[in-house]
Amino acid sequence: MIKNNKISRPIGLLDSGLGGLSVFREIDKQMPQEQVVYFGDTAHAPYGEKTNEQITDYVFSIIDFLVQKDVKMIIIACNTATAVALGEAKKKYPVPIIGVIQPGANEATSKTQNRRIGIIGTEVTIRNQGYEKLIKKINPSIATFSNSCSNQIIREMEEKALRNEDAIRNLLKECLEPIINNDVDTLVLGCTHYPFLKKYIQEVTDLEMCLVDPAKATVKQAKKLLEEQQLINTHKNKNNSFFISGNADFFAKIAEKLLGYYPGDFHGVTL
Ligand code: DGL
Repeated sequence: MIKNNKISRPIGLLDSGLGGLSVFREIDKQMPQEQVVYFGDTAHAPYGEKTNEQITDYVFSIIDFLVQKDVKMIIIACNTATAVALGEAKKKYPVPIIGVIQPGANEATSKTQNRRIGIIGTEVTIRNQGYEKLIKKINPSIATFSNSCSNQIIREMEEKALRNEDAIRNLLKECLEPIINNDVDTLVLGCTHYPFLKKYIQEVTDLEMCLVDPAKATVKQAKKLLEEQQLINTHKNKNNSFFISGNADFFAKIAEKLLGYYPGDFHGVTL
């Protein structure tokens, strides 16, 4: 029999900033009874322009912080951090840790009809080729076409609160056109910030294109893991907490705008 206090421990989530909210939103849909402790590392965003060593250091410090909050599992809700640090993190920490790339690759592979998949992400994610390798492993006959979007897109969200819509449109167009020209029918939104830009992305692709938000499959996997370990919470008895390494008030305002509701308590924190 698993003790109640083990079950009611929170799920830890981490991202460079707002992007992990696309995974948080899915937890709220699929497992609303779970409490979330979220870490948004806005002081170091965008991760896409950092070195592997820097990203790994940030991720390990955040995991140390989340472990102190007594989380029962951790989701690295960031493709860039997953690409660089998931493997090492899993070796280093006993707490179950999952990332977003494997679930996203599975989902995209199951969706494509013409076996042509596009992938967009940060420079680090695309350079690492995590999606490409996993998709090929699942089905070697699938062709992949990837492109990195400018880090400026993340800045438009994190620093400018999506006010400059024309800049976002132009940056996405530049990133998407070379991929669309390859006749892909499925596009992986390989950065957790991008699902919040779906309406702009659909202006460039067409509505027929299957957009894969890895958050859905990631949370499904997290739920399965908690079920297997008999760690599913039965009712939520604490608010979600958001720990932000940059400006927590600013983050809270944009989070509310992106989600359409106020998701929990926000705290500024320095690691
Ligand atoms: N949201 C992140 C991702 O999924 C990182 C964006 C960034 O900070 O560059 O890759």
